[in-house]
Amino acid sequence: MQAVREIIKKQTSTMKSKHLNLGKHDYCSKCNTKMFTIIEVLGKKRKVPCICKCQQEANRKALEEERKTEQRLQLEKLRKYSLMDKQFYNCNFENYKIDQYNKDIHKIGLEYCNEWRRMKTENVGMTLMGPPGIGKSYLSFCMANNLLQRNVPVIAISSINIINKIYESYGKFGEEGEVTVINKLRNADLLVLDDLGAEHTSKNGKEKQIIYSIIDSRIRAKKPMIITTNLNKKQLREKLIGADGIDRTYDRLLAACPVIEIEGKSRRMSEGNKKFEILAGLLNK
Ligand SMILES: Nc1ncnc2c1ncn2[C@@H]1O[C@H](COP(=O)(O)OP(=O)(O)OP(=O)(O)O)[C@@H](O)[C@H]1O
Ligand SMILES: [Mg+2]
Ligand SMILES: [Zn+2]
Repeated sequence: MQAVREIIKKQTSTMKSKHLNLGKHDYCSKCNTKMFTIIEVLGKKRKVPCICKCQQEANRKALEEERKTEQRLQLEKLRKYSLMDKQFYNCNFENYKIDQYNKDIHKIGLEYCNEWRRMKTENVGMTLMGPPGIGKSYLSFCMANNLLQRNVPVIAISSINIINKIYESYGKFGEEGEVTVINKLRNADLLVLDDLGAEHTSKNGKEKQIIYSIIDSRIRAKKPMIITTNLNKKQLREKLIGADGIDRTYDRLLAACPVIEIEGKSRRMSEGNKKFEILAGLLNK
């Protein structure tokens, strides 16, 4: 931005001149508007440069370009921070297909983003619960992308990928790695935790304990979460039993992220059916 501003400043800085009439060369050869003008300062006439129309337009475009580049870089930075899988970069409300099943959750999702400040202050989250393929992840990544575009630090990651990240970090930093990742997940303004319950669970309960710590640290920090899951309430309660065998986090989670049970037809099945029809169509060729 600074570079463009400097150029504009140069174009408009005043200049003394002996020639005080505007001649042909004082008009832009392209747009035919003034490149100089005469002004009176303390009773003395001065000829000063001014910006012709086409230059004004060029400056406006350059500023706009720089603003866009800055915005893009900021989004790239936030996207990197968000840990979002590239496959979800395209989820957005503009492409969202509304049907009879998802129209209500679409409205909730969109209005949630519009009212983000309030949602953040009042620590309102949600648990999108329901069978596979009905668009729980799609909606939550639409929300994540909407907020990222407005410079809100969001982390949006599946529980499987979180566990992988933490295991990777053990290799690099030992137990410290887990703390670092959990702190990062706690600090984001919004955490989208996709597919809770799909993570592998070892006998020693390590993954369960990690998920528990993440949710617990967000609840303690009073920071909102959007959770998607195939688990039902009973299974979710089971998931959130702490090391001490008490399920207090379950109640706190439900208070912070009320369950929205979603019904509907699996979009994956419909996509699969369409492909099946294409394959069946090959028989008639
Ligand atoms: N509203 C929508 N508009 C366009 N595409 C959608 C919409 N909802 C879902 N889809 C597409 O349908 C497929 C299934 O959606 P999604 O992965 O969000 O389901 P899910 O409920 O998260 O399933 P799972 O429980 O298995 O994770 C995806 O390919 C997704 O891109
Ligand atoms: Mg999903
Ligand atoms: Zn011009």
